[in-house]
Amino acid sequence: MLGIRTPVLVGGEEADLDEGKLTITDSRTGEKYSLPIKNSSVRAIELRQIREDPDEFGMLSYDPGYTNTASCTSRITFIDGDRGILRYRGFPIEDLAQSCTFTEVAFLLLNGNLPLQNELEAWNRELAGHSHPHEKVRQLLDGFLPDAHPMGVLVSAVAALSTYYPDAKQIGCASTRRLQQVRLLGQLPTIAAYVYRKSRGRSYPDPDPELSYSENFIRTLWSGTRHEPGPRAATVLARALDRLFILHADHEQNCSTSAMRQVSSSNADPYVSVASAAAALYGPLHGGANEAVLGMLDEIGSISAIPAFMRQVKAGERRLMGFGHRVYKNYDPRARIVRSIADEVFEVTERNPRIDLAMELERIALEDEYFIKRRLYPNVDFYSGIIYQAMGFSRDMFTVLFALGRAAGWLSHWEEFMRDSEKRIARPRQIYLGPDRTDVVPMGDR
Ligand code: CMC
Repeated sequence: MLGIRTPVLVGGEEADLDEGKLTITDSRTGEKYSLPIKNSSVRAIELRQIREDPDEFGMLSYDPGYTNTASCTSRITFIDGDRGILRYRGFPIEDLAQSCTFTEVAFLLLNGNLPLQNELEAWNRELAGHSHPHEKVRQLLDGFLPDAHPMGVLVSAVAALSTYYPDAKQIGCASTRRLQQVRLLGQLPTIAAYVYRKSRGRSYPDPDPELSYSENFIRTLWSGTRHEPGPRAATVLARALDRLFILHADHEQNCSTSAMRQVSSSNADPYVSVASAAAALYGPLHGGANEAVLGMLDEIGSISAIPAFMRQVKAGERRLMGFGHRVYKNYDPRARIVRSIADEVFEVTERNPRIDLAMELERIALEDEYFIKRRLYPNVDFYSGIIYQAMGFSRDMFTVLFALGRAAGWLSHWEEFMRDSEKRIARPRQIYLGPDRTDVVPMGDR
């Protein structure tokens, strides 16, 4: 919704306000066109009437990377990237991260309102009731190579759920959709914990439905390992993880959420759609950035090596990972909260020395003309990996943690999309620049 005014609601319905017209003059023909404006946007299809010749296809808008194209209307998340504002269903991210649990925020994203106490208790019971993964998941995980990247395994495991729950194909039925949402959110932490344990050659313990969402995840993950936290550390780490999940839970039409909408636009079931979203998240320019930040910090190694690294970045030879954002041209509000969570975590873990390197990188970057001019600030991934590492997570698990939080957002957008009267299969156009009709020369004559 960046730069797009929030629709005016009258009695819960969007008001059909006349916001005026955009007048376009085609300099090729001198013809004038008047395009209706709604929500500070024009419908791209209106451009089609603009033609130099009646036989022409009509004008298209060209937007690689969708930098200025709204693909849908949504009532879930609001971002003002210039002012560093992020709100879920109208609630500021700072307040949600401070006062709510992750499951409370997942309820908010999915339903549009914060739960009452009894609703939250019922919701937590429901999620806990689905925390045992399908029995086939363990066998599936055993089929992967010992060094398989956890994100590749997670994507495959979520896609496999589609074959275990064929009822998920009934995407037109609201109660069936809800069942898949609860199933997936309930199972995902346990599957993620098993993915990790599989990569360490460990057994798959049962989850404990009496524990909170994040504590259950930590316990299942580290049960019987040297990382298993004591009671106080478990409480602090679970709360920190809960807040990190909240910060990652949604971010409107980002690459993975758009993948979710794109794939589900063909009426594919939610499991394969979430798998495709998770695959999009895996990339280092999106959710994989938290892993890449740690790789970068390890490579830089010491504060004295920062200037040489920065020279490479400014020469365009590499990127400062965890910096920059398509939407935020100001400090990412999530990065500020992540930074404060680091201090809480370090009280019960060893202080991760990488934080000093990261803080010095940030200080230098924020004073440097290259970053100032391009409005590049730390994003949510700049400090999150440092926290995850201090907690005991291996680097290849960082994006899995991102996926655990973001699943709530993917499913909320899916639900919204399934109810959208404007839902159509996603099918962008292209501008063809290839050869004109060409005759095939028989193989022997080429
Ligand atoms: N380091 C150095 N230069 C950068 C960086 C960076 N991290 N990010 C952008 N730039 C430069 C870029 O080279 C370009 O410069 P010029 O105008 O001279 O060509 C300018 O800034 C604009 O960059 P862009 O690639 O056009 O911006 P974008 O909106 O297409 O890309 C981005 C956004 C997040 C992919 C990019 O900033 C980036 O690659 N950042 C590093 C990866 C990262 O941290 N990703 C996590 C994003 S937050 C989590 C999430 O939501 O997924």
